[in-house]
Amino acid sequence: MARGPNIDTFISAADRALRALLAPPAAGRPVPTPTQKAPTRGDDTLSPDDRRESAALMRVNHAGEVAAQALYHAQALFARDPEIREFMLHAAREETDHLAWCEARLKELGARPSVLNPLWYAGSFGIGTIAALLGDKASLGFVAETERQVEGHLKSHLDRLPADDQRSRAIVEAMSHDEVGHGRQAESAGAANLPGPVRELMRRTARVMTHTAYRV
Ligand SMILES: [Fe+2]
Ligand SMILES: [Fe+2]
Repeated sequence: MARGPNIDTFISAADRALRALLAPPAAGRPVPTPTQKAPTRGDDTLSPDDRRESAALMRVNHAGEVAAQALYHAQALFARDPEIREFMLHAAREETDHLAWCEARLKELGARPSVLNPLWYAGSFGIGTIAALLGDKASLGFVAETERQVEGHLKSHLDRLPADDQRSRAIVEAMSHDEVGHGRQAESAGAANLPGPVRELMRRTARVMTHTAYRV
């Protein structure tokens, strides 16, 4: 039977938030690596400009994964149907892998994550809460639309990443594959279609985050 969050679920939610922001993310899957047959060239072949561009793009992706954690955590916390809650938590665990992969890549590039990550988490948790309180179908609709937008965003990064940065590309491609899966699962679980103005608001909000995280 569907039940609302109790004190234990709130404590688990607080624990998940602190882990997402403060603890090194524990990936369930190893960092994806380039699979092409030609020998991959290491980071030492990247020019300083390319390295800077890769780091900025991977910082954006890392911030996006912090936001994804927050959205899924909030949507799990306020989901009514236990199966929908489990779907949200399962997706959040895959987003933890993405977070860990982006963090590992940032370290390889000698770069740091966005200093505004707590803000991205808090803002996204608020948005996820609103989506969840509108009901499970709307919440699933929000997942489907978010993942569609994330997929487009990751595709644009594959165009923008330096051609020689195969390590970042492998990560972005694997993330993109998972995001498509999350969107499809949300759709088949009964996602509602979101109104156009809501979709546009989501795009604009994401743009603020991506443009800011690119720099800081
Ligand atoms: Fe992700
Ligand atoms: Fe996702």
